[in-house]
Amino acid sequence: MVQKRVDSHVHFLVSKSQAMSDWDAIGNILAIAKIAGLDALCVTEHIEAKAYESLMLGIFRDNNLNGTMHSDGVVEVDGVSLLPAAELELQNGTNVGVHTNFDTLISLTRESGAYTLESLHRALSQRERPFKLVAHHIFWPGKTCDDLQELGRYVNAIEVPAKDLANAEKYMALAKDLELATTGGSDAHTFIQVGACHTTFDMSATSSCISTSWIECKKTSHIYNEFSPRLVAMAKIHRKTLIA
Ligand code: FE2
Repeated sequence: MVQKRVDSHVHFLVSKSQAMSDWDAIGNILAIAKIAGLDALCVTEHIEAKAYESLMLGIFRDNNLNGTMHSDGVVEVDGVSLLPAAELELQNGTNVGVHTNFDTLISLTRESGAYTLESLHRALSQRERPFKLVAHHIFWPGKTCDDLQELGRYVNAIEVPAKDLANAEKYMALAKDLELATTGGSDAHTFIQVGACHTTFDMSATSSCISTSWIECKKTSHIYNEFSPRLVAMAKIHRKTLIA
């Protein structure tokens, strides 16, 4: 089995209000991802972000990063694969990572709170394309979910978030309770935090496609190290200087 490492929760925009993508800054994120030994990044940009559509079109249609465009929709830049995705805020405030093909993502309603978990799952099922839903930082204040059993019926994995590693055991216990796998996501908005917590999974025995393997893999896991909290803290300071 070939194991892959993917940061399954990455933003390429510093904030939701950023008007346009900064391709140089995105290049920096990719450079650090490569040094960190990551095989792939899931571009889980906020779907309601002002520049969501132009960012995704820029990467996956117009190839602004000058990568290799694969037939499965993956764009590979200097050995790091970019997988199309989105982060959605549901009606109840819960955040989920949506991992599916580019056309499906672009077809979704892009307003915050447009979906419940059930209606999102229905909308994705109707597209009849493979998809994966990941519960993002589910114990983060304001982003929690009152019905964790319902959550477990619709999502495929529970994220252990880099920004809440002090509670990592809690996320792992929930995943175990719901009989789901964990994923690791950095929730990076800049190059500093990328990979601070990330996901490991095995490539499919029947497909050489990294996006298919990632979406279909049920036995993902998370990984981080003792430097991860420091990266998160540094990134928070850095990001403040960019938003101010
Ligand atoms: Fe996020």
